[in-house]
Amino acid sequence: MSVGIYFATTTGKTEDIAERLHGMLSGVESPKDLADVDDVSELESFDGIICGIPTWNTGADSERSGTAWDSLLDEIAGLSLSGKKVAIYGLGDSSTYTENFCDAMEELHSYFKKAGATMVGYVDKSGYTFDESKSTVGDKFCGLPLDEDSESDMTDERLTKWVGQLKSEMSI
Ligand SMILES: Cc1cc2nc3c(=O)[nH]c(=O)nc-3n(C[C@H](O)[C@H](O)[C@H](O)COP(=O)(O)O)c2cc1C
Repeated sequence: MSVGIYFATTTGKTEDIAERLHGMLSGVESPKDLADVDDVSELESFDGIICGIPTWNTGADSERSGTAWDSLLDEIAGLSLSGKKVAIYGLGDSSTYTENFCDAMEELHSYFKKAGATMVGYVDKSGYTFDESKSTVGDKFCGLPLDEDSESDMTDERLTKWVGQLKSEMSI
């Protein structure tokens, strides 16, 4: 199982989490900043992909992350990812942006689904305090939301739990 970690960031927090995830998973390639990727079709070379995305464009219907992901969404939808597992984590602020908590995760999730990927890494929303998020599906988030602005003390525990989940769901 070859697994890649891809992230985009504005102030570095999503990159920091990518590095922490890399340190917690063995046999996974070093994280790559999407802004440095020339040809997004390289994502097809992996059996599994972990994607990190922050939310910056509050309340936007599209291009919610304000990062390199936004301009690549259509290309991602055109990839051939059937049989591949994709897990998403998102960075946001559940206190200041409680009506739009980690909204960008859902956008990325929907484009990877269009590419035929099997989406994994869903997380129960009961462990979070927020008003609204576009990234919820029933009782779950469509990935792992992290909040380094207001709840950084919970990040270690959330990451540890998610890594355990990914090891089983992605066979890492
Ligand atoms: C202007 C601005 C808008 C933001 N909008 C949102 C938002 O809509 N939803 C959210 O959950 N977080 C929002 N955030 C919080 C960021 O997503 C958060 O700080 C994140 O950790 C940044 O990740 P990065 O350092 O990788 O860019 C916003 C922050 C700023 C400064």
